[in-house]
Amino acid sequence: MSDPVSTGPRHVAIIMDGNGRWATQRGRPRLFGHRAGARRVREVVESCPDVGVEYLTIFAFSTENWRRTQVEVAGLMSLFRMYISREARALDQFGVRVRFIGDRVRLDAKLVTLMDDLEKLTCNNTAVHLTIALNYGSRDEVARATKRLARDVAAGNLDPDDVNEETLPKYLDTCVLPDPDLVIRTSGEARISNFLLWQSAYAEYEFIDTLWPDFTKEEFAQLCASYGGRDRRFGGVKT
Ligand code: FPP
Repeated sequence: MSDPVSTGPRHVAIIMDGNGRWATQRGRPRLFGHRAGARRVREVVESCPDVGVEYLTIFAFSTENWRRTQVEVAGLMSLFRMYISREARALDQFGVRVRFIGDRVRLDAKLVTLMDDLEKLTCNNTAVHLTIALNYGSRDEVARATKRLARDVAAGNLDPDDVNEETLPKYLDTCVLPDPDLVIRTSGEARISNFLLWQSAYAEYEFIDTLWPDFTKEEFAQLCASYGGRDRRFGGVKT
């Protein structure tokens, strides 16, 4: 298979890292950084059509983030509730379709209701497909997917011989999304941190030093433009 790319990425996934350090540099509590980080999201989402990005997936809270202090976790959950309530209208008016991935079981009922309502409100929008990963971890996602798949096999709805690279992703949280073309991680860390492991098998990666609250639509456009110059071969050779 050969697929030289001369255009920008269709699906970009972002690990928004560095909020805590950004706040510490200013002598402020970590939640100050998370609030500043939340304010950056809208600009990047709204710039997607300008750079040809149809799908944007952002890592808001991982299955590992519960290990943070109770104050930080509670502050983040309250920020997510506030963000959804305050941004719903603007996202909808801009034509953003919002989806959430991750395990909702551990999230509080009020937050889950807000998430469901925002998904319903925006379900006919097509300008940008924004997916917010909340209580998401790839390994957890694969484990949950495998459980559902095993139940289908046990119920006689799926033949084990039909389990392959096409059928398995249908059980993932991302089943309706294309695979990411470009994964960006801010803040200088070169790690994937359990984010979209299956889906990013052939993605390009950009690890940049900017802390998430300083990330701009200009930097986003630059990264998308430099992706356009790459040659993705998906394991094949140039023809
Ligand atoms: C990582 O920075 C960031 C998070 C764990 C939270 C991400 C959340 C936001 C950007 C804000 C809310 C987003 C939405 C969609 C409302 P860090 O705390 O690990 O930073 P550090 O590595 O500098 O400590």
